[in-house]
Amino acid sequence: MSLSPQTFYDRVAPLYDATYNGDRLAGAENALVTALIRAAGCDRGRVLELACGTGAYLEHSVTAPARYLGTDISAGMLREARRKHPAYRFCQADFAALPLRDACVDSAICLFGSFSYAARPEAVVAELARVLAPGGRFFVMAVGPRAASLAVHQLDGTPVAVPWRTLGARELRDLFEGFRQLRGRAIRCAPDPLLRWLPGPLALAARRLEALTVGLLAPDRCYSQIVTGVR
Ligand SMILES: C[S@@+](CC[C@H](N)C(=O)[O-])C[C@H]1O[C@@H](n2cnc3c(N)ncnc32)[C@H](O)[C@@H]1O
Repeated sequence: MSLSPQTFYDRVAPLYDATYNGDRLAGAENALVTALIRAAGCDRGRVLELACGTGAYLEHSVTAPARYLGTDISAGMLREARRKHPAYRFCQADFAALPLRDACVDSAICLFGSFSYAARPEAVVAELARVLAPGGRFFVMAVGPRAASLAVHQLDGTPVAVPWRTLGARELRDLFEGFRQLRGRAIRCAPDPLLRWLPGPLALAARRLEALTVGLLAPDRCYSQIVTGVR
């Protein structure tokens, strides 16, 4: 079976958190990513989240409702986000065509592989450049080549073909070449089953250690690629 990302996430939405965000390893990774976002200054001012899904970022950040807007193409994922975070604003939008004014946000984030669903990544980069105010910062995560063999998309245990594109560290960074202070990072090297049995703080320490070693020395050996920069 083959489904568009929108249809796949509409169908998976009610089970998404339990499937992908429910265990303590996912909690440790969310905490690590939130810390990296803060260190990159991407939680400042008006924060736009592209492909926010069920709003997992809000469970770990301290961004006040008035400063946050979450956007996603899937009505199903947004329904879950609104149910969990009723004080926050969300809007259904393709990240390649944002219904927002020019230069209206100070920080833009796109987390946990979402950027890999961009059919035209250049169009998403152009939208980021348009909506970020001068000096605004972005933090974008894509799925690295190492994840190409994982059966990430499943419905009721059956693998589903969903178009996405893995991006190597260099390839991801090159897409953002018009921005300043570009920095690549990479996280998640050890396969999840190796770390899943660790208590949360140890899993977080292991993921941090990987980011500071493999992530810097051999980023393409990691499952998640990150690029940050300034408009
Ligand atoms: C792996 S989920 C990640 C969700 C969330 N960022 C998180 O960390 O849990 C990928 C998300 O990308 C969204 N998505 C896929 N294609 C999109 C597009 N063209 N525009 C906006 N969102 C999109 C999906 O609907 C889904 O919510």
